[in-house]
Amino acid sequence: MARFTKDAVIKEGSGRVKVVNGVPVIVVRYNGRLYAYVAVCPHAYCVLFDVNLRGSMIHCACHGELFNVETGEPTKGLAKEPLMKLSVEARGGEVFVEVPGSDVLERIVDLTRPKSP
Ligand code: FES
Repeated sequence: MARFTKDAVIKEGSGRVKVVNGVPVIVVRYNGRLYAYVAVCPHAYCVLFDVNLRGSMIHCACHGELFNVETGEPTKGLAKEPLMKLSVEARGGEVFVEVPGSDVLERIVDLTRPKSP
């Protein structure tokens, strides 16, 4: 796992976006729990930079998709795939995330590419 930031930096209802090993990652805190995702919106690949939750939703500022913070599932129908969830844990006052290889960005594009009939 890669060190992300100090645990105290991620306040309830908000989070932080950071590039780790070439991958943009968002970590947010909701109801006291940490959630981590690849910070790339599967709608049109904007980086999620709005770290303030909308209730229980992660907001994509590009076109307004809202993702369930606990599951990463899109709720407005713009994105057809969920956010890619990552393992996250806090220990010793630090937050650590399991970051996939940077080829994850290609996998997200492949997942969301329209399928030929
Ligand atoms: S890129 Fe996120 S809603 Fe369009």
